Amino acid sequence: MTSPSLIPTLAGSYYTDPAIFAAEQEHIFEQMWFCAVRGQDIATPGAFKTVRVGRESVLVSRGPDGGARAFLNICRHRGATLCAEEEGSVKRTFKCMYHAWAYDLDGKLVAAPNLVKMPDIDRVEFGLRRVHVREWLGYVWVCLAPSPPSFEDEVMGACEERLGDLAAVERYGIDSLTVGRRIRYDVKANWKLIIENFMECYHCATIHPELVHVLPEFAGGYAAQYYVGHGAEFGPGVEGFTVDGSAGVTTIAGIAEEQDRRYFAVTIKPQVFLNLVPDHVILHRMFPLAADRTIVECDWLYLPEVVAAGKDLTNSVELFDRVNRQDFEACERTQPGMASRAYANGGVLVPSEHHISAFHDWLRGKLEA
Ligand code: FES
Ligand SMILES: [Fe+2]
Repeated sequence: MTSPSLIPTLAGSYYTDPAIFAAEQEHIFEQMWFCAVRGQDIATPGAFKTVRVGRESVLVSRGPDGGARAFLNICRHRGATLCAEEEGSVKRTFKCMYHAWAYDLDGKLVAAPNLVKMPDIDRVEFGLRRVHVREWLGYVWVCLAPSPPSFEDEVMGACEERLGDLAAVERYGIDSLTVGRRIRYDVKANWKLIIENFMECYHCATIHPELVHVLPEFAGGYAAQYYVGHGAEFGPGVEGFTVDGSAGVTTIAGIAEEQDRRYFAVTIKPQVFLNLVPDHVILHRMFPLAADRTIVECDWLYLPEVVAAGKDLTNSVELFDRVNRQDFEACERTQPGMASRAYANGGVLVPSEHHISAFHDWLRGKLEA
């Protein structure tokens, strides 16, 4: 029996099987560009953050020249985790707590007990293992692959494909915005459920009353990601992208007229959601920890003068915080169903969700490769 309106989803096991999750870590998160850290969070040389990328702990820091650096967070001597903290800063070296091997901000081995008596040790070869880095939109992106895919094609290309051109995202000046608020969500659901949810708006009328009030066209179920270059327009009487439609804060000056009073959303596979509105930008980074658990870190970014002036951001932040909680609750509600025999062969996508099928094809392609 077939219904042309319906396209099958992935089978339930894709969302529960640890072997599939391990394959995703290997072929997706450890191969692609991964948005790891907000650049301002490691503002000065020696400031660092440790993040989980695939199955690795990665140390993201800044070198003496101010450029971002990333290393596998593992001591080259006997393998102790180098930095155990989630964040911190060092003056000149990262020093291992075990036998005191010390590495400079470029990862080179610079000191170790009795090192001078072992002149044959190559200090670069036994330095920290480097990870590729790029800085874009004010974030440090890392890639664990020995030869990374093109950042221009994959990351910038995703924005271009969705918005029509790269200038559309550059006009928001995201690299010069400041984090006004950050919320970390611990979601008991597979990362793909979170992406699929973000890609469709069939659920908007049911679970997002505040969002639909601000963006009435969302009641129709068609996501802002459905048409190239389309942004959902604010409803009549709505003054800003806030929980009650009240005025927001200062509009980002560089945006184009056609970007005013509109919301644009972009998915940058595999772990970033970018949301653009006239006075702020909301960026989600996902950190998949297990088949059924994903940390989502969400940044609300505003003009620096807005944050410096201590403007009240409550109504502004609350809108998407509510949307996030509504979405993640639905994802958590769905996760147990993935293991049910009712979902052994998966579910179905209705026409306004058909584009999710391309994501499923992409995923299968990655895992087969
Ligand atoms: S394991 Fe780090 S110094 Fe020995
Ligand atoms: Fe949603």
